[in-house]
Amino acid sequence: MLQRLLLAGLVPQVVLGSSFSLSFERIRSDVNILLPSTPGFGRTAHTSEFDEQGFWFTNFTVGASKDLILLIDTGSTDVYLNPGVYKPSPISQDQHVNFTITFETTNPDGSGTETIVGPVYKDIVGLDGTNLSLSAQPLGAVADPVSPPTFPHDGLVGFAGLYQTALNSTSWFQQLCDHGELDACRFGIAYKTDETGEQYFGYVAEERFEGPLSVSPVIPNMEWGTYMDIAYDGQVVERDALMVTDSGTTIIFGPIDQVQTLFDAAGIQSVLSPNTTADAPSTLTGYFNCSNPPTFGFGLPSLSNATAASTNLSSPVSHQSTIFNILPSQLVQNSTGDNCTASIHGTDEFPFWLVGQVFFQGKYIDHNHDDETMGFATLWQS
Ligand SMILES: *[C@@H]1O[C@H](CO)[C@@H](O)[C@H](O)[C@H]1NC(C)=O
Ligand SMILES: *[C@@H]1O[C@H](CO)[C@@H](O)[C@H](O)[C@H]1NC(C)=O
Ligand SMILES: *[C@@H]1O[C@H](CO)[C@@H](O)[C@H](O)[C@H]1NC(C)=O
Ligand SMILES: *[C@@H]1O[C@H](CO)[C@@H](O)[C@H](O)[C@H]1NC(C)=O
Ligand SMILES: *[C@@H]1O[C@H](CO)[C@@H](O)[C@H](O)[C@H]1NC(C)=O
Ligand SMILES: *[C@@H]1O[C@H](CO)[C@@H](O)[C@H](O)[C@H]1NC(C)=O
Ligand SMILES: *[C@@H]1O[C@H](CO)[C@@H](O)[C@H](O)[C@H]1NC(C)=O
Ligand SMILES: *[C@@H]1O[C@H](CO)[C@@H](O)[C@H](O)[C@H]1NC(C)=O
Ligand SMILES: *[C@@H]1O[C@H](CO)[C@@H](O)[C@H](O)[C@H]1NC(C)=O
Ligand SMILES: *[C@@H]1O[C@H](CO)[C@@H](O)[C@H](O)[C@H]1NC(C)=O
Repeated sequence: MLQRLLLAGLVPQVVLGSSFSLSFERIRSDVNILLPSTPGFGRTAHTSEFDEQGFWFTNFTVGASKDLILLIDTGSTDVYLNPGVYKPSPISQDQHVNFTITFETTNPDGSGTETIVGPVYKDIVGLDGTNLSLSAQPLGAVADPVSPPTFPHDGLVGFAGLYQTALNSTSWFQQLCDHGELDACRFGIAYKTDETGEQYFGYVAEERFEGPLSVSPVIPNMEWGTYMDIAYDGQVVERDALMVTDSGTTIIFGPIDQVQTLFDAAGIQSVLSPNTTADAPSTLTGYFNCSNPPTFGFGLPSLSNATAASTNLSSPVSHQSTIFNILPSQLVQNSTGDNCTASIHGTDEFPFWLVGQVFFQGKYIDHNHDDETMGFATLWQS
């Protein structure tokens, strides 16, 4: 999930709340929920996560409740619990303030907005099975609307930067860093295609991926956005695109003209659905033969950023760009016979590419707050 932004130069301003568009879920069968517990060691930890309908979850303790199932969202910042879920612990602190955050609606056409409100507390927020716990993390207890619940399962925990908060607080992850709970202020996500994944805290799980990380600069003050080139079949068709990564978005959105360029390069059918009302965005949908999927990918770091880094000895950014393709299985959002709907959609709702978990799958994605970089690599097994 991602808050809707206006980019003024490179200084983003929060305008609205996060997107939570269930209409863009990928169609999946139900899966069994099995979370092996993985104890933390030293000032690093890792946890198992599971994928359900394109959203990723793991167990947290919040306040007096253990085993809450929270959505892992790298596109927003705060901790929110669904109505009725929050049970204060003895050290809970009522902040005597209400939060307000506006979400994109769940209407099939993406129109409208939904505002959630509720009181703010500070309380225990800990990742089950690890030592990663804070005793006074700000959290929002959703009071309105009561139903339907805003989030699947119990709520969500955000991993993005300060610019996405509606609680005036840094994320749980960043507070762990500030409290010296992690060896390095970074986390990695490794999502496989079998609906299981891992998240690593305080280190890079190098045994999980091939070769070195391809390191790309984070857009200043905009964790976790970076720059990329857009590629079809290993050839760059668009350069220097802004990309915001978001584990809490199921699919991929890009500006209509750039998505059109990509679909045209692949020679696939595209259908523009014009807006029918002023607040409903136009969308571009791509269809391809399931038996012959196109190869779409993102070049990271961008060629421009790689070239700039190669003349700057102190830059942590990789000197070469690597194209990371979306796995063919993840490019399919839906299918009817041999007619597959692409999981990349065009919309002018965001002035950037919003890159969701279909891209994450089969990759290791490092989120490095110390260096303000992101690192990408291909998982050994996916
Ligand atoms: C996670 O929470 C669910 C639901 O509360 C519970 O059934 C499950 O046993 C928990 N998993 C672990 C590893 O604690
Ligand atoms: C928060 O909202 C509730 C419900 O609308 C209201 O009763 C309460 O006074 C508000 N609290 C603050 C501190 O504004
Ligand atoms: C981490 O937690 C385990 C119990 O889950 C505990 O035995 C261990 O001492 C803790 N380690 C540190 C460094 O706090
Ligand atoms: C966040 O800060 C703004 C501006 O200082 C204030 O109006 C708002 O009430 C604060 N919100 C919370 C949830 O603390
Ligand atoms: C479509 O959106 C545009 C821009 O927001 C608006 O000017 C136009 O009136 C909308 N079209 C319809 C049919 O509402
Ligand atoms: C898709 O399949 C149809 C019918 O088999 C064929 O005519 C068409 O050329 C194929 N298109 C692509 C892009 O592979
Ligand atoms: C990366 O590329 C973007 C777009 O060309 C540019 O604005 C930015 O300054 C570059 N960043 C670095 C660190 O080279
Ligand atoms: C070189 O990279 C460092 C570290 O990212 C950065 O602070 C510095 O501004 C860069 N220098 C130039 C000339 O771009
Ligand atoms: C998936 O395809 C089926 C059959 O064409 C259609 O009924 C359904 O609405 C589609 N779902 C989505 C999310 O596009
Ligand atoms: C694929 O399905 C969509 C939605 O039903 C339709 O608009 C499109 O024309 C179909 N494409 C092909 C090649 O059959």
